[in-house]
Amino acid sequence: MRKRLLLCLLAAGVLLLGRAGKTSLPASGPAEIPSENRYVALTFDDGPRRSTTEKLLDGLLERGASATFFVVGEELAGNEDLVERMKNEGHQIGNHTWSHVRLTGTPNETALEELGRTDEALRDILGDGDYWIRPPYGMVEEELESLLQVPLVKWSVDPKDWESRDTKKVVEAIRENVGHNAIILLHDIYPTSVEAALQMVDALQAEGYWFVTVEELLLLNGVTPQPGVMYRSGNP
Ligand code: NI
Repeated sequence: MRKRLLLCLLAAGVLLLGRAGKTSLPASGPAEIPSENRYVALTFDDGPRRSTTEKLLDGLLERGASATFFVVGEELAGNEDLVERMKNEGHQIGNHTWSHVRLTGTPNETALEELGRTDEALRDILGDGDYWIRPPYGMVEEELESLLQVPLVKWSVDPKDWESRDTKKVVEAIRENVGHNAIILLHDIYPTSVEAALQMVDALQAEGYWFVTVEELLLLNGVTPQPGVMYRSGNP
């Protein structure tokens, strides 16, 4: 059911984008309703972790919000059900290496092994698919990039949730920097980040934002994701 809603949303978004600038509300409509949809992608790295990811998934489901999870291969054993749940509930799942290795300064062979092992683990759990990559620390060398078969994802908003571990500070940092087409970096292994994410969803949905996966965000903007290309926001 949710998937069908999302498809409608995507179709509506494409329509809106297709006639950019021509959308308008009936004159009698309430003034506070934004005349255009705004989209944003929440991304969560370093999980899954049962004690925090489960609560996040519950909260996102309640709110009808989609997100993207870049999982660490080492964390998958014993958490397969959480990853299946992500997929079933319309989220995007991606690859954050096997052991959270820094890819810059790492030999290509090792880097590809780190990525390949997680890709394989995801295929074992979820079946075939394109598991996009978020390199740890957001960095990857061009030479390695050119060897990759899937798109890469960075971010446009980094509230440094791992550093402050403070819900209020994380919410403020996002609010100051968020806008249409933002990709927000968070980590679903901290209770403070999960709480901040759910507060943000409530606040931004009230302002007319829709929470979509990174892939959906690009498609809504007419961007066809390319392998080996790093995307930082939904802006074309
Ligand atoms: Ni990370």
